[in-house]
Amino acid sequence: MATTLQSIRGMNDLLPSETPLWQALEAEARALLAAYGYEEIRLPLVEQTAVFARSIGEHTDIVEKEMYTFTDRNGDSLSLRPEGTAGCVRAILEHGLLRGQTQRLGYLGPMFRHERPQKGRYRQFHQLGVEVFGMPGPDIDAELILMTARLWRRLGLDGLTLQINSLGGNAARAKYRAELVRHFSAHEQALDADSRRRLTANPLRILDSKNPAMADLIAAAPAFADFLDADSAAHFEMLQSLLKDAGVPYEVNPRLVRGLDYYGRTVFEWVSRDLGAQSAVCAGGRYDGLVEQFGGPPTPATGFALGLERLIALWRAQGRAAAASAPEVYLMPVEPECVGAVLRLAEQLRDALPGLSIVSHCGGGSLKSQFKRADRVGARLAVMVGGEELRSGKVTVKDLRGGGGQQTLTPAALIDLLKQSGRP
Ligand code: HAM
Repeated sequence: MATTLQSIRGMNDLLPSETPLWQALEAEARALLAAYGYEEIRLPLVEQTAVFARSIGEHTDIVEKEMYTFTDRNGDSLSLRPEGTAGCVRAILEHGLLRGQTQRLGYLGPMFRHERPQKGRYRQFHQLGVEVFGMPGPDIDAELILMTARLWRRLGLDGLTLQINSLGGNAARAKYRAELVRHFSAHEQALDADSRRRLTANPLRILDSKNPAMADLIAAAPAFADFLDADSAAHFEMLQSLLKDAGVPYEVNPRLVRGLDYYGRTVFEWVSRDLGAQSAVCAGGRYDGLVEQFGGPPTPATGFALGLERLIALWRAQGRAAAASAPEVYLMPVEPECVGAVLRLAEQLRDALPGLSIVSHCGGGSLKSQFKRADRVGARLAVMVGGEELRSGKVTVKDLRGGGGQQTLTPAALIDLLKQSGRP
């Protein structure tokens, strides 16, 4: 017996009942990019593994255990993209988009991480991301935050908190790193297995540990603020003053380190208390060294990505329902001979009324069953095309929502009626 095929765990189908909400969110996302002058970039879903490994970091969770990596038929190691920043840097260098120019770019699309699926965490998920190149100051960091704050307002979301931190320049981070290794090495027996592994590879990530047994040790760790270099400190202060000026409340979270290695200076996260454990809706920060690491010229860069599944969950939790997209007109052949006339009339209506949703009944059946179908899809008008009507050049139109009135009209009169009803 054939086994039933199922979708891959953590990779979701988006059914017609859900897609209207997604479409609405995607439209808001695109409008947001346009409102701030960001241009769209579309990148492949698959890249050479090195694109991600070298940028996100060999010792990060993403690269160590979450990438979908495979060898293709040429023997090359490829990976499904776990995020958008690395591919974006690869692309702008490959196509020379940086020569003497700044760039404000945005993208929307699926990302893949082999994480343990749970509410708000999936193996295929979607991000709206933006990446900005060539702007070194806190003004653009502030713009990114204002942009996201605007999106929350547009969507009517509240209860989102902004956390910010500065990870400083390279030298300061190296000094801090050494200090952290000293602190945690002195208490090595108190570290869990993950943290012991990170001790040499990626000690900053120990600060991110959620293990309650390590909370005291982490709390006692040196604070990065004491190591912050003067330039980064000025940058961070300016960012805070711009946020205050713009009226965006924030919290400085000195423990915010982020799970990707390319960050330096500003990092930020928007978190929501309405999402349970997976509370980060949006995250980003500066990665001034990454373009150079990819072989490009020294180029300041900053960006963020927000998780659309989490945003949809919030939008739903805060009362937004998917608006059903019901057709305006449902055309029915009264007799089988009228099928051709129905298809013709449907095309004529679509020519005259672009944007209107017109559905022709297909698949046969009695008039009664056709009316049932029209009701089920929520159509506004039923249009019956029968032999009698064809001879007289008219069709019978029944209002399915407003009391069921019926009239006999020529196609031209039907078009006028639909135009007058103020639909597109
Ligand atoms: P990230 O923090 O790894 O950053 O991901 C950004 C957002 O994507 C998260 O805050 C979350 O909303 C969503 N997300 C991540 N993983 C999952 C998952 N498994 N399931 C559902 N949603 C998820 C980045 O990806 C960076 N590239 C952001 C960036 C752009 N920084 C600078 N530019």
